[in-house]
Amino acid sequence: MSTQEKIEKLLKKTEVILAAGGEKRVAKQHESGKMTARERIAELLDEGSFVELDRFVRHRCNNFGQEKKELPGEGVTTGYGTVDGRLVYVFAQDFTVEGGSLGEMHANKIVKVCRLAAKMGAPCVGLNDSGGARIQEATDALGGYGKIFFENTRSSGVIPQISAIMGPSAGGAVYSPALTDFIYMVKNTSKMFITGPAVVKSVTGEDVTQEQLGGAMTHNSKSGVAHFAAEDDHDCLQQIRYLLSFLPSNNMEGAPIVETGDDPNRVCPELNTLLPDNSNAAYDMYDVIKAIVDNGEYYESQKYFATNIITCFARMDGQTVGIIANQPKVMAGCLDINASDKSSRFIRFCDAFGIPLLNLVDVPGFLPGCHQEYGGIIRHGAKMLYAYSEATVPKITLVTRKAYGGSYLAMCAAELGADQVIAWPTAEIAVMGPAGAANIIFKNDPDQKKKTDEYIENFATPYYAAQRGMVDMVIEPKNSRPVIINALQMLASKHEVLPAKRHGNIPL
Ligand code: HXC
Repeated sequence: MSTQEKIEKLLKKTEVILAAGGEKRVAKQHESGKMTARERIAELLDEGSFVELDRFVRHRCNNFGQEKKELPGEGVTTGYGTVDGRLVYVFAQDFTVEGGSLGEMHANKIVKVCRLAAKMGAPCVGLNDSGGARIQEATDALGGYGKIFFENTRSSGVIPQISAIMGPSAGGAVYSPALTDFIYMVKNTSKMFITGPAVVKSVTGEDVTQEQLGGAMTHNSKSGVAHFAAEDDHDCLQQIRYLLSFLPSNNMEGAPIVETGDDPNRVCPELNTLLPDNSNAAYDMYDVIKAIVDNGEYYESQKYFATNIITCFARMDGQTVGIIANQPKVMAGCLDINASDKSSRFIRFCDAFGIPLLNLVDVPGFLPGCHQEYGGIIRHGAKMLYAYSEATVPKITLVTRKAYGGSYLAMCAAELGADQVIAWPTAEIAVMGPAGAANIIFKNDPDQKKKTDEYIENFATPYYAAQRGMVDMVIEPKNSRPVIINALQMLASKHEVLPAKRHGNIPL
């Protein structure tokens, strides 16, 4: 064969692979509102930056006539490129090739990019669109999932791992995304479940649609499995780019510093009048966040789940911070099981990747009731105490109003290692809600009303805690932004090492 013929052979083979599952299946993919694997990668990465690996990998399955089947690219496109100029590894399952099903070699391609990402210290993004294990490959496919789960776990806390569900994700296949840091789901086209509606019906008798069982909003609002919801593929891929802009490439590097143009000394007069005089009346914690962060811009994780707590990334003087904030507008900002899980995982992500934590506190307590106790609020709430105590990144706590009892500790009080505790004059830092406390200590006192008022006056304030050095400063609300930025600058050189151990034992 001449050189020219060899080149032509290469081009022909390439053409077959680029055609993926063929025109018909590609058209079907488009008709169902989905992009193809290659279109998705092109949209995710900087233009022209994608370098494909393992294009010619082929399955070696001889069961059920598979040996006669050519499966272009093995049903998954893998490689690397850049997002805003920074290295990112990616794999995209190709639903047009045998339903994006995962066989042995398909899995090997994914494992290879995951390993490269970990070695190079670059994020790994998985675009999932698959019918699950390729049935014909039997346990070879199962083993493939096992290898991916292992790789996901070993890379956890080393590089950011992001999963987008852009089609079906069923059975054990859901667990690779679940092991990664963030899950995106596309509305209407993505589904995640352990078993589909038919099995649910036969086992429990429940009638449920795919969308109800495992659609984007089910997992964003009910189960908390997903972190972000996207309108369509385009929106999903742009959101992933946006998320990456807040994150460092790995656990040894800092997040990119961005010139945001917002004055670090900007005061926020509106915060002086934000809180209602009645301390039981609600206000919107988003107003505090928008006021203090650069240009009022933030990106919220798990926006629709456990809305009594807010978890988001933002920048202050160009530096990424992870914000955990009670929301007085929802359940008065009480902590419950879901809020504990949501915030603990966010705290641990930020800590793993060196992102400072900013805690905005207005918390009246843990939510009481049988439902919470039977569900294990003790075990779940303990996750917050553990996650904050374990975190060695800079931790800044701003108390706007209520900070009662254990729930205050769980929002990172000084004793949980907050490096700076800042309070507004409206802060009520107390061992428990003042009305309840006064009820106990003045139970038989004829002057109960007067004494209770005095108690509130003297103990539902920031000053008792400040006298003990549990609050570093009490500030006018309007100065919150410059004070926090100043604290972040002061804490930039923080270095704290945990005692040597194999690993801790977080309550799960
Ligand atoms: C082999 C598969 C496949 C699979 C789909 N295909 N899933 N091939 N193994 N798991 C093939 C189809 O045969 C079809 O081939 C093509 O992909 C497109 O599939 P369609 O069914 O035509 O597409 P659609 O109607 O859109 O339905 C998509 C689907 C459905 C809902 C995902 O294909 C489906 O239910 N698949 C099986 C899902 C499943 O039960 N997976 C669990 C496997 S066990 P042709 O040649 O006709 O185009 C598992 C355990 C993992 O995952 C454990 C890990 C720990």
